[in-house]
Amino acid sequence: MPPVQFHALDTLSVVELAAQARAGLLREAATVSPKFFYDALGSRLFEAITELDEYGLMRAEATIFSSFGAVMAGEARARIGRPFDLVDLGAGDCAKAARLLALLQPARYLALDISIEHMRPALQRMQHEHPGLPMVGIGTDFSDRLQLPRTLCPGPALVFYPGSSIGNFDPQAAQRLLAQARELAAGGALLIGVDLVKDKAQLQAAYDDALGVTAAFNLNLLRHLNRLIGSDFDPRQWRHHARYDEGAGRIEMHLLARAALVVRWPGGERRFAAGEGIHTENSYKWTLPDFAELLRGAGWRRAQSWCDAAEGFAVVLAS
Ligand SMILES: C[S@@+](CC[C@H](N)C(=O)[O-])C[C@H]1O[C@@H](n2cnc3c(N)ncnc32)[C@H](O)[C@@H]1O
Repeated sequence: MPPVQFHALDTLSVVELAAQARAGLLREAATVSPKFFYDALGSRLFEAITELDEYGLMRAEATIFSSFGAVMAGEARARIGRPFDLVDLGAGDCAKAARLLALLQPARYLALDISIEHMRPALQRMQHEHPGLPMVGIGTDFSDRLQLPRTLCPGPALVFYPGSSIGNFDPQAAQRLLAQARELAAGGALLIGVDLVKDKAQLQAAYDDALGVTAAFNLNLLRHLNRLIGSDFDPRQWRHHARYDEGAGRIEMHLLARAALVVRWPGGERRFAAGEGIHTENSYKWTLPDFAELLRGAGWRRAQSWCDAAEGFAVVLAS
């Protein structure tokens, strides 16, 4: 069995990530990218979220893959028509790709994630279970630009982006990322999860669960920032807030200061009034026609989608 190769791309520079986090804290309305959720604990808390009663998204997606996975995989293989790499964006525990490997039969599996230390053991386990399939782990932050050296991914590729993380990007940035995915696919295809517009109360509960796991996930970002930029956030002084903005079609997550306070880090500080917040995540919800339009704008011409029975989630294959 070949050892898994791991590469860390220079998009993962701690100096650059720390500079981005500080700049976000100093904006008039403090904003920190959701990519900062994912330290080791954040990655585990995310996995716990997927088990919650309120967070039906992953179960809906799993139902779609188990009902239609074989059809989707057959269609993807037929459209690409030659050996391809499976490129998993934000692979996390690699569990979703693992379930589809037998159907997709890629030539290689490339797992990309900002949290390489979380992905590493998952990928090593997967390699153990599939000793004949070459696997590569790539530590990268693709929020500004999704790009791989051609030596790592010559193409064609099936770009796999499940779980509706595309919703973290505003429509313009989402279109840019999808266009970059098309370049990366180099004549291949895209298989992507999309959370659809649904009942407001259901959406809000999914991001503000009764057990407080999503609150812990959101608050853990402050611990991560403390390590990254040396700040002195005390998570006890903050509370989780999630709301659905129907006009914008997105869930917003914020952390709100419980009282007036000052956060300090080497070389800087930020004052927060009581109730003032840090915007930590947007999660856009899409209708299928709007998402098809987004894909077309990014250069993907042929899209086919599969939904769960409640039509709350879709998996889209595009080429
Ligand atoms: C919502 S989780 C989804 C995990 C898995 N793909 C799934 O669908 O269950 C998002 C994953 O993307 C990774 N991630 C988040 N922002 C990223 C970025 N800017 N670049 C690379 N990976 C990122 C996280 O570390 C995490 O593993």
